[in-house]
Amino acid sequence: MDRINIQASTDYEVLIGKGLIDSCGTHIRECLFRAQKALIVTDSNVAPLYLGRVKSSLEREGFSVSDYVFEAGEEKKNIDSIAGMWAVMAEEEFTRTDIVVSLGGGVATDMGGFAAATFLRGIKVVQIPTSLLAMADAALGGKTGIDLPQGKNLVGAFHQPSMVIEDTDCLATLPSEVFTEGMAEVIKYAFIMDKELYGVLSEIADSGKAMSLQEDIDTLTKILISCVKDKAEVITEDEKDNGRRQILNYGHTIGHVIERNSNFTLAHGVCVAKGMGIITDACLKSSMMSADTAESIKDLIKAYGLPTEDPITPEDAVSGAMNDKKKRGDTISLILVNEIGKAEIKKMTPEELLEFLR
Ligand SMILES: NC(=O)c1ccc[n+]([C@@H]2O[C@H](COP(=O)([O-])OP(=O)(O)OC[C@H]3O[C@@H](n4cnc5c(N)ncnc54)[C@H](O)[C@@H]3O)[C@@H](O)[C@H]2O)c1
Ligand SMILES: [Zn+2]
Repeated sequence: MDRINIQASTDYEVLIGKGLIDSCGTHIRECLFRAQKALIVTDSNVAPLYLGRVKSSLEREGFSVSDYVFEAGEEKKNIDSIAGMWAVMAEEEFTRTDIVVSLGGGVATDMGGFAAATFLRGIKVVQIPTSLLAMADAALGGKTGIDLPQGKNLVGAFHQPSMVIEDTDCLATLPSEVFTEGMAEVIKYAFIMDKELYGVLSEIADSGKAMSLQEDIDTLTKILISCVKDKAEVITEDEKDNGRRQILNYGHTIGHVIERNSNFTLAHGVCVAKGMGIITDACLKSSMMSADTAESIKDLIKAYGLPTEDPITPEDAVSGAMNDKKKRGDTISLILVNEIGKAEIKKMTPEELLEFLR
């Protein structure tokens, strides 16, 4: 098992290894010794696979355990689900020392974190991410929240977990398309800050093993450790997303617009991959990057089964980006990678962005 320390407003550990689901109770007990009750928040796909094991592990450590199982999918990432969690905790008479344990993909970790951030003005949460995307990204860093009919992630809170437990064996049961989608965020770290990870990922791709990576848990664990360390570094520097943390949005500015325009029929990771591809084309055209670098970026994305293009027009991309909550004032912060392993934040007016994308 590997332990990675994240230094934020509260420090916490990320545990990564095989089989941790069955010993999660012991690790949680070590860091939260006063807690008596735990609410496990999970979805209808993950519950039959892992809920019983997490529950038993917690019960062995003396926790009294309740659960809240929601129907899998982004549609349930809403206030009704949160109200359901609040109700269970109120009925079970949770106190400030009791805890929420989120178990599942990014939807479960975002919601479990938000329910914990708000119940009794904030109780502790432990994140047990089970999707690649949640292990590499969503469960780390304390961003929690829900969607509104008006837009994704519009309501939320920063609430750092007390511990994150990543059992890499869980990746074996992920549907392959969900795994591929998560790879978009993994590849993103390589481009924005981790040349070494880029080397590892391209070596796997060159040996023709990219599409069977899901079966190689040992290699995946190493890759995941790199991603967690990368995210930890960014969070430590900029917990509240005012500066460097924005580099994690690489591919997301245009990706979010494509995702919204598809009415969320296209998966998030697929849209991020397209966004990274489109920005790469624009950088190349503006002579900001070499043809070699552009080719390396797009080849790696494609090698892992993800797209690099989309028919969206520059006009639609810019008007969509202007509606994004992440823009500040009249400018859009675009994340550019002109050299693999280095990202820069470039503020652009809508006119400049249009010119850049045309
Ligand atoms: N808080 C953050 O910093 C942050 C960052 C990125 C994304 N997110 C959020 O994360 C969400 C997307 O996360 P996601 O892609 O994990 O979605 P998800 O939670 O919907 O999980 C994807 C699918 O995989 C299933 N699943 C998860 N783990 C499984 C396993 N081990 N075996 C079998 N099936 C499994 C789920 O039931 C679901 O059907 C979005 O809501 C997004 O806004 C948050
Ligand atoms: Zn993302």
